[in-house]
Amino acid sequence: MRRTYEDQVEALLGRMTTAEKFGQLQQLTWTGDTGPGGGQTALTEAAARAGLLGSVLNIHGAEHTNALQRMAVEESRLGIPLLFGLDVIHGFWTTFPIPLAQAASFDPAVAESDAEVSARETRTNGVHWTFSPMMDVTHEPRWGRIAESSGEDPYLNAVLAVARVRGYQGPADGSGLASKDRVAACAKHFVAYGGAEGGRDYNTVDVSEQRLRNLYLPPFKAALDAGVATVMAAFNTVSGVPAHANAHTMNRILKEEWGFDGFVVSDYTGVEELIAHGFAEDGPDAARLALNAGLDMEMVSTRLADHGEELLAAGRVEMSRLDDAVARILRLKFALGLFDRPYADESAAVTGPTDEAREAARTAGARSMVLLRNEDAVLPLSPAASRIAVVGPLADSADLHGTWAGPGGTRFPSVTVLDAVREAAAGTVVAPAGPGVAEAVAAVESAEVAVVVVGEEPALSGEAAVRSAIGLPDGQEELIAAVAATGRPFAVVLLNGRPLTIGGWLESAPGVLEAWHPGIEAGHAVADVLFGTVAPGGKLPVSFPRDVGQIPVYYNRESTGRPYRPAVPDEKYVSKYLDLEDGPLFPFGFGLGYTTFATDGPRLDREEVTVAELERGAAVEVSVDVENTGARTGDEVVQLYVHDVAASIAQPVRRLRGFARVTLEPGARTTVTFRLGAEDLGFWTNDPAGTFTVEPGRIDVYAGTSSAASAYRTLTVR
Ligand code: BGC
Repeated sequence: MRRTYEDQVEALLGRMTTAEKFGQLQQLTWTGDTGPGGGQTALTEAAARAGLLGSVLNIHGAEHTNALQRMAVEESRLGIPLLFGLDVIHGFWTTFPIPLAQAASFDPAVAESDAEVSARETRTNGVHWTFSPMMDVTHEPRWGRIAESSGEDPYLNAVLAVARVRGYQGPADGSGLASKDRVAACAKHFVAYGGAEGGRDYNTVDVSEQRLRNLYLPPFKAALDAGVATVMAAFNTVSGVPAHANAHTMNRILKEEWGFDGFVVSDYTGVEELIAHGFAEDGPDAARLALNAGLDMEMVSTRLADHGEELLAAGRVEMSRLDDAVARILRLKFALGLFDRPYADESAAVTGPTDEAREAARTAGARSMVLLRNEDAVLPLSPAASRIAVVGPLADSADLHGTWAGPGGTRFPSVTVLDAVREAAAGTVVAPAGPGVAEAVAAVESAEVAVVVVGEEPALSGEAAVRSAIGLPDGQEELIAAVAATGRPFAVVLLNGRPLTIGGWLESAPGVLEAWHPGIEAGHAVADVLFGTVAPGGKLPVSFPRDVGQIPVYYNRESTGRPYRPAVPDEKYVSKYLDLEDGPLFPFGFGLGYTTFATDGPRLDREEVTVAELERGAAVEVSVDVENTGARTGDEVVQLYVHDVAASIAQPVRRLRGFARVTLEPGARTTVTFRLGAEDLGFWTNDPAGTFTVEPGRIDVYAGTSSAASAYRTLTVR
């Protein structure tokens, strides 16, 4: 952010009492699950009037926010406006696909269009700040919050985080923040939340410095470079120290090393939870530890506001730290233009999804789908099929928004798959008369082809929605088996918030389309792909395990001394399971289409480069030719991976460093070009002070259409 408002911030700080300063550090929830009456409404109003409140979450609607804002601006001593925040994770009114789905598009434009539409709907409804993007890299499909993330790869997470920050905020210098269709973004959860042991939410994360820096931190750094205004602390510990009181991650890395001058907000009661973590003795201790470690704003719990003054008096926190935290918050309020225009224009509120926004959500939904299997070209369906059966427990579901849907999730139903297939193939669709398997089978038997719509209800993924078994919920595999037994061709549509274990039935289904939770236009987006109006071109942003016992299984794993060698499957003393085939069922980056592509191996514009050249900004150009060898227009995602063959820290066997989604007509050919610089070829060491190194040696550069790509060229770094 540009530091344009320093004089105003200083002047205001000079007029504030200590209590007013701690007040700015407080965020309360208007509605929610805290306290009697479901929120902190009464407390919020009183604090706003008294000038002892910085921010409010879980409020929206211009007349509500304006009414509360009036209390702060017109009744408090200094009239400092409130900052209103809300979780707009993949849509306010217009729900886009869940973030994990968007990651599967391998198309940052999808995430950016979500963020732009969301920003407009959010800001015009009185909310200035979204708690998004979430960028927690994770190897844990059991963890329900994988639905909110961009999956297992730091590079993909970073690219999508940047697209979202741009879509929410506009230019990286913060100059767009004051406009009425932008909101401030929040990079969360800082940091390593995706590493929760066993995938159990809020659980311990023990992580080496190199893994912290190579795996978890890169999306945050990228978001910062894109100008993200705020950062949210994570609920977990990071190597024993809760993220909310972690001076190494907040003070040292985020603020000192990266120079972040926005503010860090706690997660919901995260400061208070330092006591339960066994880190803080009591409330005052929790406040002290959090503030001194670099946390700036407390969400919902009130330890800083309650104990701040006594801590200051006792010399346990410094006035300079308090002023710094307040300045960070005020700076954003100025950048958002709240001092000039504290109120939202009630007549300008976007009151629901516009046609244009729906269209963007539909496009995003279709681009996010991943075709996992398509035997005998069962897909695309022909709209001229004599009869198409649409069966399964989610066929008629109008709640396909997915976790963390915004206010639109309860107000505007999703288009159902059944309705959309009916629309696309008028007159030919049959649906079962009831929910039973026998009825579904009867419908399938009366049809030429069937679509079986199964998966997880939205409540099965998201926060505190962890599953120990991640197969299809009860009864759904039986349904698939019964449909398969009819002998009719069929395709399974999966609607889910995480990777599932689907190996038990996969081969019985001729077609499988991973559609995730596609949002408000769910059915339309599914039908677009089923009938081939849109070519499926998404790729998995996360590996699909064969079995839960194999988790974590992810493509960017580090080399072991005894790797499993597919050519020698019976080798005993290697890293493998006795009772499971090696590797995931589907690797990261995998996805089919309705046409076929051929990609040539990568070409490098040079075979050698020196460390010195790289450090001066030189890059190696990598070109990959790709050709549509099939009969239909389609999309392919060309992917570039590197593997540092020998390094001072064992390196991942592959690391994604570039991708490009291209659309090609039959027979068309194009060349995709990537650049590999120091950032792509080096890595962070275990030095806690932060050392990034580019070492001489051999780097294999892979290109292809999934993380299993085998074509490579070797680059020598001297
Ligand atoms: C979640 C955050 C969210 C916050 C506010 C917490 O429970 O972890 O991601 O932004 O609530 O709703």
